[in-house]
Amino acid sequence: MRKNIVAGNWKMNTTVPEGVELAKAVNDAVAQAQDLKCDVVIGVPFTHLTAVKQVIDINKVGLAAENCADHNSGAYTGEVSAPMVASTGANYVILGHSERRGYYNESYEMLKTKVDLALEAGLKVIFCCGESLEEREAGKVEDVIKAEISESLFHLTPEQWTNIVIAYEPIWAIGTGKTATNDQAEEVHAFIRGLVAEKFGKQIADDTTILYGGSCKPSNAPELFAKPDIDGGLIGGASLKAADFMGIVTAF
Ligand code: PGA
Repeated sequence: MRKNIVAGNWKMNTTVPEGVELAKAVNDAVAQAQDLKCDVVIGVPFTHLTAVKQVIDINKVGLAAENCADHNSGAYTGEVSAPMVASTGANYVILGHSERRGYYNESYEMLKTKVDLALEAGLKVIFCCGESLEEREAGKVEDVIKAEISESLFHLTPEQWTNIVIAYEPIWAIGTGKTATNDQAEEVHAFIRGLVAEKFGKQIADDTTILYGGSCKPSNAPELFAKPDIDGGLIGGASLKAADFMGIVTAF
């Protein structure tokens, strides 16, 4: 069955003490909430994983790294591998965010390797895709999404696919205050589900969770989440305040 998920992506924000406070506040709010209609995940900097794991109930609040290396161990100064992430008790990793693709030159091929290593380490993957404004204006949305998903994910087995969550994040909507309209987002989500159906069949496509990301906030989340192919959100800015994040978590 398809799961709804609201995941926070803190990006490069908060010190460890600040992050622990925020995680505690989210954990307490989730523990007190009645009848939540979605799973909750927080994506935090590598430095925070171990400390945050200690203050959350991992059965109620999932814990994600925001990246992992394309190697498991060795002479890669400054990198953090998927087995290292898993050893903190985290159960998710966000891969392919447009900021990583753009600023750190992550290619389809590199992301394919990262996805494989993450799954091998037992992590679930929140895999991001999305077009730039220029690509949208040139009518290339479907080409971009299809390439990003198929080149890095379509080598997986149906069994591996059960550990993949897709996040559609139009780059022009990230951190800009410009949300895709509900219909714009739904159109791409339906296209993504169609791609998954072509590759893995209708049942697996129906079971796949597809999140929307890009200036999602408590005020626009209910309308976005009401769309048939939008199964939750990947939340940047609004995940940095527990009250705002919970406003989105409770939007279903
Ligand atoms: P935003 O970021 O919610 O701040 O737009 C979303 C994301 O980049 O995951």
